Amino acid sequence: MRWTLLSCIVLVVVAMLAYLLYTPAPDGITEPLKFSAFCGMLKSCWVIAKAIAYFDDGDYLKQYRNIRHWLKPVTPSDMPGSNIRSRVTTFDGIRIRLYEPIRKPKVLQPALIYIHGGGLIFGSTDTYDSLTRKVAEGLDMVVASIEYRLAPKFKVPTQAKDCLKASSWFMQNAEQFGVAADRIGMAGDSAGGLLTAYLSQIIHDNASLPDLKFQGLIYPLTQVLDFYTPSYQKYAKLFKEKGLLPRSMVMYMLTSAIKNDGDLYNASMFNMHTSAEFKTRLRKLVNHDNIPIEMKDEFYYNSPNKEDGNVKVWEKYRSVLLDPVLSPLLREDMTGLPPAYIITCGFDNIRDDGILYARKLENAGVETTLVNYEAGFHGMFWEDRFFDFELGKEALQKFIIHAKYFLLR
Ligand SMILES: *[C@@H]1O[C@H](CO)[C@@H](O)[C@H](O)[C@H]1NC(C)=O
Ligand SMILES: *[C@@H]1O[C@H](CO)[C@@H](O)[C@H](O)[C@H]1NC(C)=O
Repeated sequence: MRWTLLSCIVLVVVAMLAYLLYTPAPDGITEPLKFSAFCGMLKSCWVIAKAIAYFDDGDYLKQYRNIRHWLKPVTPSDMPGSNIRSRVTTFDGIRIRLYEPIRKPKVLQPALIYIHGGGLIFGSTDTYDSLTRKVAEGLDMVVASIEYRLAPKFKVPTQAKDCLKASSWFMQNAEQFGVAADRIGMAGDSAGGLLTAYLSQIIHDNASLPDLKFQGLIYPLTQVLDFYTPSYQKYAKLFKEKGLLPRSMVMYMLTSAIKNDGDLYNASMFNMHTSAEFKTRLRKLVNHDNIPIEMKDEFYYNSPNKEDGNVKVWEKYRSVLLDPVLSPLLREDMTGLPPAYIITCGFDNIRDDGILYARKLENAGVETTLVNYEAGFHGMFWEDRFFDFELGKEALQKFIIHAKYFLLR
């Protein structure tokens, strides 16, 4: 009798866990089984992080970062047969993981600055080591990966300031690395894509710094004003609150970066964090008409009609929400910005952020390549001990070829 009861309890617990951790893979997504397993793995990481934190100091984000770190070991600085050697250094006080070719030409070469993703709250140059090393190997150039300080301890714009500080120091001291200051490109994924877009703008605006040679935006965030774009709507229909970058995760990151405020979080969850009045302007700033019609399937998409908002939240946070550091898409004049290679994914809340940014650059005459991987998902570039995705690898190879083309010409 007792055993029956026990097995019942175990069964119920397992079923509940499976339900909690299971993310069904929508039709059309790449490697669906692996995708579901990957989501389950990452969700388990959060559960484990919360469990450990419960018995420790309650800081589950710290535990989550540790787990992710454990999943992504750093490669040795020298790899057999590789022309790239890595080391840790600092640029003007900012920690850098630097990759340098061992044999290199005598003349000054191009280089790439990489800004890792992780929603401004996790991710590190260490957990990105295998990716940035691959990029360095593929380019056979100097790659500098920046360790910017993370939220919630450090609020925006700390992350952008750190990246700018390190980047301008690198430009001013490029020659000591065998690099030409005016041939430096920048790339980043997710929040790193946001920082790359923003830095491309402010470096362009600074007469004492040469323009970046290239900007690579990998499924970037480019605005925090409209959380009801066609891609957010598609995601909500397909995943509800599951998947790799659920809406609640975006809002958790947003509030961690700005202020841990329940009102801001709740309002953003329902796209009510701006005002009804502002929303008429917003329709022009984040214009759904610029999203191709085939990406607005009527099964997913409702054009915005309920023009409502939360004036209190908007008044309190409007300056930071409108700040180009979080919403570089709002910049009026995009002319003269560096050539761009932009990657978006069909299964991503922020797909349209990348598409709209590409449109705007294109309209301003900036040389822009937009590649949308319809079967791809946010995070597909990620690989660790257990997971890597063919489409992610393919996209990375293509990205490297394009980056090399832009940097070498
Ligand atoms: C431009 O960049 C230089 C070098 O980093 C910096 O000293 C200066 O303050 C910047 N100017 C502006 C207007 O931001
Ligand atoms: C946010 O919403 C949740 C769930 O609806 C609610 O429990 C919570 O009190 C709200 N927080 C604030 C600050 O309004």
